[in-house]
Amino acid sequence: MIVLKKKEDIELIRKAAQLLGQTLAEVGRHIRPGVTTQFLDQIGDQYIRDHGAIPLCKGYEGFPSALCISVNDVVVHGIPGQLFIKEGDNVSLDCVIELDGYVADSAFTFAVGEISPEMERLLRVTKECLYLGLEKCKAGNRVGDIGHAVQSHAEKNGYGVVRELCGHGVGFKMHESPNVPNYGTPGTGALLKEGMVIAVEPMITMGSKNVKFSKTDGWTCRTKDGKPAAHFEHTVAIGAKGPEILTTFDYIEKILKH
Ligand code: MF3
Ligand code: CO
Repeated sequence: MIVLKKKEDIELIRKAAQLLGQTLAEVGRHIRPGVTTQFLDQIGDQYIRDHGAIPLCKGYEGFPSALCISVNDVVVHGIPGQLFIKEGDNVSLDCVIELDGYVADSAFTFAVGEISPEMERLLRVTKECLYLGLEKCKAGNRVGDIGHAVQSHAEKNGYGVVRELCGHGVGFKMHESPNVPNYGTPGTGALLKEGMVIAVEPMITMGSKNVKFSKTDGWTCRTKDGKPAAHFEHTVAIGAKGPEILTTFDYIEKILKH
């Protein structure tokens, strides 16, 4: 069942979403060669709690940390640990927080220092996929319109679209209906209505679209061919005339300029 949100609900989801944008920037500011992913997670965890929010990934179906931190060939759900970040890596931060009972979900993939032109292009195109998907987040469109926009841009650029995981409704809980795949056919799937809030989150691979999940931790999702992947995510409200993006990369973009 798809639960619609009232205007007041959307304003409170936006509050959570803005704090989440600040959280990703605060953690992102500490990404540099030599730091561990666990160190980054601790910064995020503390920041979220200091601002009166709850890191929802921690404890979710046994996930151990506040953030998913996914480096290079790890597509999503990387578990923070003793892995050292190095120059040329890509580091995706994915986080879900609850503030005053409202939930927001967002992810951003950072470049560490100088990255290869190939990696640069992957990050740029994946972010473009996100915004092309978001453009379809308008009442009267369908979920397949979002997926199609994401998929066609990724594939036109020679990239793979991960099938095993997708976007989702969000706002009252981390995962609500409907599922929002990153592939699809225009005019098909659930009808988008004003008041729906969803997370759009393209997971795009440089090589083949196939992924595998770690047998040891059950979470870490890697590309099968070992090539890099990228992940960007926003929480968005479906508006009558267009998308109302509730999370933000503004804080991240500010720190990237320095
Ligand atoms: N953005 C991820 C998602 O949409 C966050 C969930 S990670 C988990 O599913 F660890 F909490 F599962
Ligand atoms: Co999500």
